[in-house]
Amino acid sequence: MIYAANFKTNHTRESTKEYITDLQSKLGDKKPEDRVFVFPPLTALDSFEGDFTIGAQNAYPVENGAYTGEVGVEQLSEFNINTILIGHSERRDTIGESQEQVAKKFAFFKEQGFEIIYCIGESLEVREQGIEAVMEHLVSQFEGIDTTYDNFVVAYEPIWAIGTGRSATVAEIVETHNALKQIVDKPLLYGGSVKGANIAEISAISNVDGVLVGGASLKTETFLELVFH
Ligand code: 13P
Repeated sequence: MIYAANFKTNHTRESTKEYITDLQSKLGDKKPEDRVFVFPPLTALDSFEGDFTIGAQNAYPVENGAYTGEVGVEQLSEFNINTILIGHSERRDTIGESQEQVAKKFAFFKEQGFEIIYCIGESLEVREQGIEAVMEHLVSQFEGIDTTYDNFVVAYEPIWAIGTGRSATVAEIVETHNALKQIVDKPLLYGGSVKGANIAEISAISNVDGVLVGGASLKTETFLELVFH
């Protein structure tokens, strides 16, 4: 299983350091085949060492240059960061990244050899139209994406389940993940209100290879509850 913590715009440099220090001391007992990722805010990136991978929530698809307010590969390389989240619904919908921009970012970071956790997900409006509409939408989010890329993990995060406390049901996850695996044969994470109360049933689903976690990842106690469930 993969356990990925997405802090979003939470935690400071100081509190991230405390979190990682706590994590380092407690991950010793995790199953060797499990992988843990942490995506802190960009200002908290550093050269942390331990049995986990630190990634960037976002970056601009350049080495460096005149891109005011952005961070490129040069700034990530300082801390040996070569893992990135691309396509999160908050970047698509709140920040306004188009599929074209997402695909451009993907192509650039693929070229750099980054491990890419690529997020897809539908709105409630689409979900209410049924699985065919859902799949049509999800397939459209692979437009321009090389799904055969080796260093590629997909995260299915239904937007209506993010931060709402209401995760997708087991039946919805089973149906959607089975359909997605037919299209992209890569590790497939589920994200959306994953917490201690539902990790056992979600992680038991055969086509769930891991979880991408927001709210429940913000404290080491609640995140480790998932890793050690
Ligand atoms: P929550 O776990 O807070 O629902 O967030 C999920 C998410 O968006 C992770 O990327």
